[in-house]
Amino acid sequence: MCGIVGYVGPREATEVLIEGLRRLEYRGYDSAGVAVMNGSGVQVRKAVGRLSALEKVLSGNGIHGGVGIGHTRWATHGVPNEVNSHPHISFDGKLSIIHNGIIENYRELKRELIEQGVTFKSDTDTEVVAHLIAKAFDGDLLHAVNAVLKRLRGAYAFAVCHNDQPDRIVATRMGSPLVIGLGDGENFIASDVPALLKYTRRVVFLEEGQLAEVTREGVKLFDSELKPVALKETTTSLTLDAAEKEGYEHFMLKEIHEQPHALAETIRGRIEGERVDLSELNLDAETLKGVNRIALLACGTSLYSAMVGKYLLERFTRIPTETWSASEFRYADPVIDPGMLVIAVSQSGETADTLEALRIVKAGGARTIAICNVMGSSIPRTVDGTLYTRAGPEIGVASTKAYTTQLAGFVLLAVGIGRMLGRTDEATEAKIVEGLRQLPGQTKALLDEDIVAVKRCAKRYKDVFNFMYIGRHFNYPTAMEGALKLKEISYIHAEGYAGGEMKHGPLALVEGTFPTIAIAPQGRTREKLISNVQEIKARKGVVVMLSTHGDEEARELADYLIEIPACEEELSPILAVIPLQLLAYYTATQLGRDVDKPRNLAKSVTVE
Ligand code: F6R
Repeated sequence: MCGIVGYVGPREATEVLIEGLRRLEYRGYDSAGVAVMNGSGVQVRKAVGRLSALEKVLSGNGIHGGVGIGHTRWATHGVPNEVNSHPHISFDGKLSIIHNGIIENYRELKRELIEQGVTFKSDTDTEVVAHLIAKAFDGDLLHAVNAVLKRLRGAYAFAVCHNDQPDRIVATRMGSPLVIGLGDGENFIASDVPALLKYTRRVVFLEEGQLAEVTREGVKLFDSELKPVALKETTTSLTLDAAEKEGYEHFMLKEIHEQPHALAETIRGRIEGERVDLSELNLDAETLKGVNRIALLACGTSLYSAMVGKYLLERFTRIPTETWSASEFRYADPVIDPGMLVIAVSQSGETADTLEALRIVKAGGARTIAICNVMGSSIPRTVDGTLYTRAGPEIGVASTKAYTTQLAGFVLLAVGIGRMLGRTDEATEAKIVEGLRQLPGQTKALLDEDIVAVKRCAKRYKDVFNFMYIGRHFNYPTAMEGALKLKEISYIHAEGYAGGEMKHGPLALVEGTFPTIAIAPQGRTREKLISNVQEIKARKGVVVMLSTHGDEEARELADYLIEIPACEEELSPILAVIPLQLLAYYTATQLGRDVDKPRNLAKSVTVE
């Protein structure tokens, strides 16, 4: 998983490439590099570490020219070092290439090239492609790239330059994202739109298997037979501001505070009076009556939103619903039938496991929907309909606003389908719709409160080695998500458990200093969770209670008390997770962690 960017035009290419790579660092940040053409050959600069390391190299040893490609890397083949960094150069020194993805059959291709006398410098799969295209080159880069694509298995987005055609970049994609930016006398390519926003908002999303020939004068698209394809230009509504921190210390904090707006956007146009309006999904009662089961596919945080989604869908639609980690589903020999409705959940829309699981269910004839944040990404392109969460770009690696908007998406979907099937009555729908309407305001109130207990807890417990999070029913996944947030950005071990499971094992961990966060808002399992807390208190454990404003019993039991506004229990996971996001954030900042780019992780996992 990497970020790629390319430029052709009158500016200094390195400046455009560095600007673009800065916006793409969320895709990978263990090394970076650029290659620039200037008529007298290609020049390459690379550096291990963050982009700032590459900038330092360039400031001491700059390269000039108006055609270039740049890459920020998250290692998959070969350790992060300078040799393995992109761009890679072909054996004849003429071709440069950057790549996002994995070439699965690179070993056999490499063997073949070695037998032909090619010497390899790096351990990467990408270098194989550089040599193959250089060998196929007979004066036309587009033809050479296309010929080699036929030999590759795996996922890729490539951008390629050649000394003998120094005015152009040839780019293509299969399973990895690529967008083209259209300028005036200049053109761009990138893995994601924010990389282009400083220069243009006119974009073309490359379809799977298409090739683009990008020059100053224009962009030409071709299909895999090299037949010309018409450009489908759109103007993105994203702004550069949206991709920047706007005064917050970290993207994660900014994104936590964007949740009121993000939730309002997710709901916008989808509730009308007392009703949910899902017309954008083209679902009708007849089709839904044929659905005998729902399967939810997702990874990580999105998987936890899917776990809440299961409870919501079963409550409102009464259709049996199963939740799958997409990486497990792929290899579980799943039973697929055309009566199945599959919902893929993904912030990025690019998660390789989710995408592949989707392809499997599609091949089995299932109907598919996505809940996704990134417009035009691979998952929405694969499914029959998408409920976009409209949360705006999420740059911090730890997902926050994407999660709460996914939850809102599930509420809409569950109530909407339930009503279409006649299994959710009008009064229930009206009650939930009113709850949704209040959510942005309640979220804002919660964030404005500056939750003192959260900061006190972060300070007091930042040095412990373990944390337990417990919840039940709708808030069992909240416990999992709270624990994931803490471990991924603070590196403190944390576990999320169903409260009722404590006595079946984990209770053995509890002693004087062991902290448990108990998520117990109003709702039918609150009392049960309070009993679980009593069991912990009886063993002298420390308990942070997360409960609804005014819950006196919780106040009495709590060592620390975090309160959220009263709401329908189906909506409580949306409010309950917010203090947990903040707890993780403040704990991590107290510990001096790199909150937006935690070690070993990257924002979108486009490899298996
Ligand atoms: C955790 C996190 C990841 C993602 C997971 C799926 O904070 O962000 O666990 O949720 O990699 O990503 P998407 O939602 O893009 O499919």
